Amino acid sequence: MFATRAVGNALLAVLLGCATIASPLGSAAEGPAPPTKMRCEYLVNPLGIDVRQPRFAWVLGHTERGQKQTAYQILVAVRLESLNQDKGEQWDSTKVSSDDSTQVAYAGKPLESGRTYYWKVRYWDKAGKASPYSQPAQFEVGLLSREEWKGAWIGGDGLLRKEINLAEKVVRARAYVTALGYYELRINGEKVGNNVLDPAWTTYEKRALYTTYDVSPYFQRGPNALGVMLGGGWATLHIDEPKIPAVYKSPALLLQINLELEGGKQLTLVSDASWKTSRGPVVSDSVYNGEVYDARLELPGWDRPGCDVSAWSAAKVMGGTKGILSAQMMPPIRVVDTMVPVSLSNPQPGVYVYDLGQNFSGWVQLRVNGPAGTAVQMRFSELLYPNGMINRETIRDAKSRDIYILRGGGPEVYEPRFTYHGFRYVEVTGYPGAPSLDSLRGKVVNTAVEPTGSFAASNPLLNQIQKIIRWGQSTNLHSVPTDCDQRNERQGWMGDAQVTAEEAMLNFDMAAFYTNFLRDIRDVQGEDGTITDTVPHKYGSRPADPAWGTAYPLIAWYMYQQYGDRRILEEHYEGLKKYVEFLRSRAPDNILRYSYYGDWVAIEQTPGEYVSAAYYYWDVQILSKVAEILGKSGDAQAYAQLAGQIKEAFNRAFLNPATGLYANGTQTAQTMALYLDLVPKEQAGSAASNLYKDIVYKHDTHVTTGFIGVKYLLPLLTRIGQADIAYDLATQTTYPSWGFMIANGATTLWEIWQQKVGPSMNSQNHPMLGSVGAWFYQTLGGINIDANGAGYRRIVIQPQIVRDLASAGATVDTVRGIVSCTWTHSPGKTTLEVTVPVNSEAKIVIPKDNEMTEVTIKEGERVVWDNGRFVPGVEGIVNAGAGTNQTSFLAPLQRTVVFEVGSGHYLFTLTGQ
Ligand code: BGC
Repeated sequence: MFATRAVGNALLAVLLGCATIASPLGSAAEGPAPPTKMRCEYLVNPLGIDVRQPRFAWVLGHTERGQKQTAYQILVAVRLESLNQDKGEQWDSTKVSSDDSTQVAYAGKPLESGRTYYWKVRYWDKAGKASPYSQPAQFEVGLLSREEWKGAWIGGDGLLRKEINLAEKVVRARAYVTALGYYELRINGEKVGNNVLDPAWTTYEKRALYTTYDVSPYFQRGPNALGVMLGGGWATLHIDEPKIPAVYKSPALLLQINLELEGGKQLTLVSDASWKTSRGPVVSDSVYNGEVYDARLELPGWDRPGCDVSAWSAAKVMGGTKGILSAQMMPPIRVVDTMVPVSLSNPQPGVYVYDLGQNFSGWVQLRVNGPAGTAVQMRFSELLYPNGMINRETIRDAKSRDIYILRGGGPEVYEPRFTYHGFRYVEVTGYPGAPSLDSLRGKVVNTAVEPTGSFAASNPLLNQIQKIIRWGQSTNLHSVPTDCDQRNERQGWMGDAQVTAEEAMLNFDMAAFYTNFLRDIRDVQGEDGTITDTVPHKYGSRPADPAWGTAYPLIAWYMYQQYGDRRILEEHYEGLKKYVEFLRSRAPDNILRYSYYGDWVAIEQTPGEYVSAAYYYWDVQILSKVAEILGKSGDAQAYAQLAGQIKEAFNRAFLNPATGLYANGTQTAQTMALYLDLVPKEQAGSAASNLYKDIVYKHDTHVTTGFIGVKYLLPLLTRIGQADIAYDLATQTTYPSWGFMIANGATTLWEIWQQKVGPSMNSQNHPMLGSVGAWFYQTLGGINIDANGAGYRRIVIQPQIVRDLASAGATVDTVRGIVSCTWTHSPGKTTLEVTVPVNSEAKIVIPKDNEMTEVTIKEGERVVWDNGRFVPGVEGIVNAGAGTNQTSFLAPLQRTVVFEVGSGHYLFTLTGQ
């Protein structure tokens, strides 16, 4: 397709990816294809959901362009056989006239705990032609009420076990497991499932999350043994908390296994005082400090039937939490990848240093053979000293080390269970003999979100930045979005979470993750509406800095934009309103002044109160929009009015009308006012040109913002016709810039723009400056959501062709299917390949080179634009017209041709002189 152009390998991957995934051709059948990518509550065939009206989503296929869903029918059955006969005894939606293919709520008979439901869907296209039914999908309900939990919270000395005898064969078995801390469940000697560091970290007094496992295959007729290892996790990790609630004293387990036996008998196994406990091989475990594991203390066969328990004592019944038990409805933490070390050195006698070649979160697997009692220590670091020894200054007070004490007598393999580290280098000491490269493997551990987006461009620096953004982002997903993964922090800092949310949603499937996180935020909300800097709250303050607290409205809003999630808005409306009302109580003159961090890590400081006041305006505005969407017109109006008053007060307080400067005129100050449309018309030009001058002349095209300002700086530059300058900033290689980090060996983004190695603020893996990733997709990749097209119902494809960039492309696997755009550009010629999913429509904005007078645009081989006029007749293209690219105060307007299209795969070629 682009054979004549030199495109980078990464871009080719994007192109090929699109071609294979998105091409509507190749399917033999004509017309509407059966729906695919069936999701229930954003999850694939989830086990153990506890939503009574779960929402369904599917993706449509069609052989024609410009296709839409006009109706759907969903069948839900309790028996797969009835579904196969097209019967939905649980729910038959019948034919519903609607173009909703996501967020469709179940409306059948009440769902029952522990049951599996099968569902399928078909749709009718524009011409009223029905698709075949989809393949069946399924979902299973967890335990819907607290009364169904029969067991007790128990704890003990690390190992817990229970033996039971089953006279009949097990037909079906489900385990529901939660812990305050971490657990590993084993049945008859085998680990159940492949989750690690489970369950997710929550505000345990309020809520604990349980995981549902299908444990049917683990049981046998006759004796069976259940074994559980418990670790402290976040529950027992304390940071200067004045009063530690009882739930945080020592780890506790709550477990229930519901069994169906042959012959129909039902049996429930629960955690209770009849369990036994013993000390095990884990001598100590801590998220920050690592694990000490003495393999000599292993009790072989402890998790199998018939183990001698004479030395075991009774498990302790614990208070547990009185909080809500909720199903864990997001991807679990897993080992997602294995890293092979790139080098091994021996900087001092007995000291071996492995380089894994990449900064990441997780642990290592150690292979060792030596005498019993030998202690091998692994210490983790992000950096090395020039002499080759590990530099642990960025780890701060976390001990971040694992110690393995050998059992002896043969090859041994060890991986820790209840800790994780952020690192690139591993120092091994105490190893018997000399280790080899194969003695160690890195295990990448994080919440296993699916990648959903890709971005690539012909400038390799952009691809390198994209790569380190993704590493930093994914390795900072540990059931909550964390600020960093290495030092004694790793918290759900809300400021970091809000600036990275859009980038994360473009790169990964974050829908279930943020659904959970928003509930976490609501769980920390006080009666007075306050929320906290970190969620769950361990660090920082209550009330949150407004630039941190804004994570609540902003992430809810991004959920609506990216996934069309209206239910999130409904569920959080009261919480959001309470939060905004709290802010209002602190802003009697409509200026919210309190602030702790403001534009954190900025090179040039912006007054904190300025940042807070701007977010207050935005929060109120979002609340007003949410109210409008939910049909609460009274609130919508009242908050719109309040936003208007804040805007006035904001300009009175911070704008110098003579100069167009806000506050102290920093990049962040100018950007926030412009980005939020706070600037009066008369000052818009000067406000923007002040920003331009500050960037280009005062700072030689460098950023001076912190992590707040930079989130909006590049998008704002695009909006005011300065995408070239934004591109210059994005590809800058001298301090301060992302390229400067790359040039200095970063494999994940740094916490600060400066290159520092001292023990203060210099984490090597902080995702927050990666917010620029959203700009890659939106400005260079050109993928944008129309203001009235939440959930990619309406898409705006508007790539900016910047400087001498020859090509760029982005793909996002959205809730409605693949959206992609790749372009190439050379003087006189632009190509644009676009995929719009069935049931979506798009505006495709193709920029013209300004000097061009005569322009012809073809789609495939057919002319669709000539002599300044739309040439109709090509399937899928509804209309076209001339346009301009920006509301510019500074640059000449760039002329464009705008196509309105329906679904399909298009290849536009613009040529001109
Ligand atoms: C964290 C930041 C966070 C900040 C609050 C730091 O220690 O690592 O990323 O947002 O504290 O100012």
